[in-house]
Amino acid sequence: MMLQIRKPDDMHLHLRDGAILESVVAASAADFGRALVMPNLLPPITTGAMAAAYRNRILAALPNSSTFKPLMAIYLTDETDPAEVKAAVKCGHAVAVKLYPAGATTNSTSGVTDISNVRGVFEALAETGTPLCVHGEVAEFDVDIFDREKVFIEKVLERIRAWEPRLRIVLEHVTTAEGIEYVRSNRPRVAATITVHHLIINRNHIFRGGLQPHNYCLPVAKREHHRLALIGAATGGETSFFLGTDSAPHLATDKECASGCAGIYTAPVAVSCLAHIFEDAGALNELEKFASVHGAHFYRLEPNSEFIELRKRETPLQDVGNPIVGDDRIVVFDPGFDLHWEPVRKEENANGR
Ligand code: NCD
Ligand code: ZN
Repeated sequence: MMLQIRKPDDMHLHLRDGAILESVVAASAADFGRALVMPNLLPPITTGAMAAAYRNRILAALPNSSTFKPLMAIYLTDETDPAEVKAAVKCGHAVAVKLYPAGATTNSTSGVTDISNVRGVFEALAETGTPLCVHGEVAEFDVDIFDREKVFIEKVLERIRAWEPRLRIVLEHVTTAEGIEYVRSNRPRVAATITVHHLIINRNHIFRGGLQPHNYCLPVAKREHHRLALIGAATGGETSFFLGTDSAPHLATDKECASGCAGIYTAPVAVSCLAHIFEDAGALNELEKFASVHGAHFYRLEPNSEFIELRKRETPLQDVGNPIVGDDRIVVFDPGFDLHWEPVRKEENANGR
């Protein structure tokens, strides 16, 4: 069985820099036409010039024949200058601004401590129609970690929207039924990305048979009924929901330790997993909209003109193998089921395999 879809876009991707960038970028470039690359490096990408330089480093790390196009986002801080953001968007160095509440996730210490500090940036974004991507969790330790998305929506997102009703917002990696409902009631200006792993795991998978650091990410996976709400939104053909894998590579030693960091590396298996999930939901015909059309539409881009083919194999796909970085490795997400859908890669086409 074969399936042909327009080449997908990954509207939320972590590529890092240096040796990790070198070892992960090819996997995304193989299956995706474009990706919105997250700016949470150390130091973060806070200006148009930094975004342009980072983009060049990504392009330099790509395989020669690749047509993969990185789209860049600027990391919002308390000090971000609205004029700088406008200029960066105008000259094409960035397509979005990313709001990390300070302390909410990996490399977010330079994030926003109080949203009233960045009202001027929200206004500039609303004026120019530039999307604000939000890590939708409050960072307060006294808010239960499983409630942080819901509380963010009520306390922070609602405030931002009251200030700037025209602002176009992406609730990144939405994980809750409340988040899905919020998007449904506030579209089309509010949209959401959904990750591959949140469509597959619920919070039990973090603890199954012992602590599973490779199933730990932020926002943390929630209860099963939330996962089912995400499946409904992703496979239902609604234009406000689109793919952002949040593929977040970390060295294994940084995850398999006493204070393991958050982030799940899904890029090499993302498209195979998605085909499996959509087939399971009886919605293979909706896969292209979720992965390749709705995101482009929200970012006011044409969908990719290239197509990819997926082949359903009788025998399960072989383990893709974990990329090696120096003496360390990056562990690829294990969905917990066999994968049968295989993207037919370009080289294979050329070889006639
Ligand atoms: C991301 C990372 O590692 O950069 N981690 C994660 O758990 N998703 C940051 C983020 O998107 O929250
Ligand atoms: Zn992320």
